Amino acid sequence: MKKINIAVDGTSGVGKSSVCDRIAETLQLTHLDTGAMYRCVALYLKEQNTDLEDLEAVEKAVNDIRIRFDNDIVFLNDKDVSKVIRTNEISMMASKTSALAPVRKRLVGLQQEVTAEKGYIVDGRDICTVVLPDADVKIFMSATPEARADRRYKEYISKGIEADYETILKDINQRDYQDSHRAISPLVKAEDAIEVDTSSLTIDEVVQTILDIIHKKVD
Ligand code: DC
Repeated sequence: MKKINIAVDGTSGVGKSSVCDRIAETLQLTHLDTGAMYRCVALYLKEQNTDLEDLEAVEKAVNDIRIRFDNDIVFLNDKDVSKVIRTNEISMMASKTSALAPVRKRLVGLQQEVTAEKGYIVDGRDICTVVLPDADVKIFMSATPEARADRRYKEYISKGIEADYETILKDINQRDYQDSHRAISPLVKAEDAIEVDTSSLTIDEVVQTILDIIHKKVD
C-alpha cells in the first residue's frame, strides 16, 4: 500500500483510540492520538494554575509544553503522564481547555508538522476538517451516548473501578455538547468523511469495517 494519512474523528468514548491502535498495527502506520495531546495541555494548565481567562498566559504555557509518545506511554515535559491524563477530572478539563484559541493553534500546528510526511492514522475531533483536510481516507465514528456510557461503565467495572452509569452518561453528554458547540473547530462530520456507527458493533467489527473502507479507497 502507498504511504497514506488516515483521519478519524468522533465523539468522546466512541473507541477511536483502541480502533486506531489496531488499524495502525495492521497497516503499519503510526497512530497519533491528538486527544492525549489536549489532555496533556489540560494537565499542564492545571498544574501551573494558569488563569484560563488570560489567553496570553495560556499561550505562554502551551509554548512551554513538550509532548512525546513512546508506544502507549505519554510524556509531558519528560514525565510519564499516561495514567493521570485519563482521569475523569482531566477528561472534563480537556474538553474545556481545548476550546481555547492558543491551545488549538499550537496543537494543530504540531500535528500538521508531525504528519507532513505521511504514514499516520490520526484521531481526534477536527482531524478531517482542520488538521488533515487532504487525508487519503476520512472516517467519522459515532455511537449513541447510551452505548458509549454502557461500554465505559463495563470497562470500569471490569477493572474493579467504582462506577455509576448515570454519572458517566451525564459526563458524556456534557462533553459532547462542549466539543460540538465551541466557537473554534467544533466537532462536526466532514462532508467527505464516511460515517461508521459503532453502537451495535464489536471492536473487531468496527476495525474490519474501517479496514474495508480504507482498502476500497486506497488499493
Ligand atoms: O479523544 P479524547 O477524549 O482523549 O479527547 C479529550 C478532549 O480533547 C475532548 O473533550 C476534546 C478535545 N479534543 C479536541 O478538541 N480536538 C482533538 N483533535 C482531540 C481532542
